[in-house]
Amino acid sequence: MSNGLFGIERETIISNSKVRDIFTPFSPIDIVENLLGREKEVSQIVGVINSPGQHVLLYGDRGVGKTSLAIISHLLIKNMKIIRGKFFIKRCCSDDSFASIVQYPLKSIGIDYELSEITESHTQGGGAKIKAVIAEGGANSKRTRSCKRVVEINPSSPAWVSERLKDLKGVFLIDEIDALPRKNDKKRIAELIKLLSDSRSQFKLIVVGIADTGDELTAGHPSVERCLKETHLARMEDVALRNIIVEGMKKLQITPTEKVIDTIVDISAGYPHFTHLVCLKCAENAIVSKKRTVNMPDLEEALKDAVKESEGALKRRFESTLRGTKNEAEYRCILLAAAHCSIPEFTLSALRSKLLDRFNINIPQRVVSRYMSNMIVYRGKGVFDRVSKGVYRFSDPRMPSFIKMIEVQRSIAQ
Ligand SMILES: Nc1ncnc2c1ncn2[C@@H]1O[C@H](COP(=O)(O)OP(=O)(O)OP(=O)(O)O)[C@@H](O)[C@H]1O
Ligand SMILES: [Mg+2]
Repeated sequence: MSNGLFGIERETIISNSKVRDIFTPFSPIDIVENLLGREKEVSQIVGVINSPGQHVLLYGDRGVGKTSLAIISHLLIKNMKIIRGKFFIKRCCSDDSFASIVQYPLKSIGIDYELSEITESHTQGGGAKIKAVIAEGGANSKRTRSCKRVVEINPSSPAWVSERLKDLKGVFLIDEIDALPRKNDKKRIAELIKLLSDSRSQFKLIVVGIADTGDELTAGHPSVERCLKETHLARMEDVALRNIIVEGMKKLQITPTEKVIDTIVDISAGYPHFTHLVCLKCAENAIVSKKRTVNMPDLEEALKDAVKESEGALKRRFESTLRGTKNEAEYRCILLAAAHCSIPEFTLSALRSKLLDRFNINIPQRVVSRYMSNMIVYRGKGVFDRVSKGVYRFSDPRMPSFIKMIEVQRSIAQ
């Protein structure tokens, strides 16, 4: 069918179908039933939050499902009344500081301050003490005439903040802590956790961020380990990815072939974002063309759209690697063979055997090594990083999925 004026007809059909509520590649899961394959992790987080003095640190690669897991755990703790009290979510960005993060819970107990004043007192080195308006009787006071007074506060100090928050009950989810530009602010959050834990506070923190190790997110704070339960979130299992496809398609009354399901699972390589993205594109096309099945040629069309909608950073890295190479076809083979190597790191000999298995190409080790060196562009823009002599990893762990989407689509088309 035609897409109608400016593609609006197509958009109308798609939005009426609710497919974008089922496959959500660009937003975290916020409905309990839609979180698949993370039962063990949810129960671990709930258990930790329910243990006196214990808080959660959830970390892992970009895009493995950290925010979704944290949001659903937070929601369950609230809805099932595991903890009664106040619930806050703060998503950090590069403008944030310790004081701007704790602003939300402090405001809920009536301490309201202007962040511009904090920045000013920081730059003047004045001990970060500032004046703030305090609502007497708390922000939720039922008294009709609220009484306000001005006092000195110190929201950049974990000790001061802990004194104020320790009697509060509830859970504070701090997401994307890796985005904080100053190491000191991460350390202050770790200090706050330690202080809350020491006072057996029922105000609990779930801290989430991208990292290889937990202490990257606590800036190596030494004594926080006992009270901060670290959970490394691994990539999703194939069986859970398969469930995302099957359950989502079932809701839309669409049936993908087994080959399509297996191919999407293989492309996803543990990243639910790619499962949602490819399924969304398959389902949108099926809905618009009133089809009830998805087969390999449909998948090829969907992959073209999925590549177009992929994150710019992945596209730029991939394209800049191939741009200007004399024998693009060989580089493509090496990229695809590397995308099929085990993760996160692979050796030159593993890469050579993948080249032989998949493409029947036998290249001497020194030649493969030269190709790899050409694909490591310094200053963080290349596809690969060299881990040690003869050992490599993709600089963005999602790159293998992106490469597979391009190559699978090309191979179906041929
Ligand atoms: N357990 C799950 N079941 C189904 N879909 C999931 C699950 N976890 C994550 N997703 C989907 O995967 C994608 C990425 O999830 P999410 O945003 O939670 O990852 P993240 O690790 O927080 O990413 P980032 O590192 O970019 O912050 C989203 O499309 C989300 O809907
Ligand atoms: Mg996230």
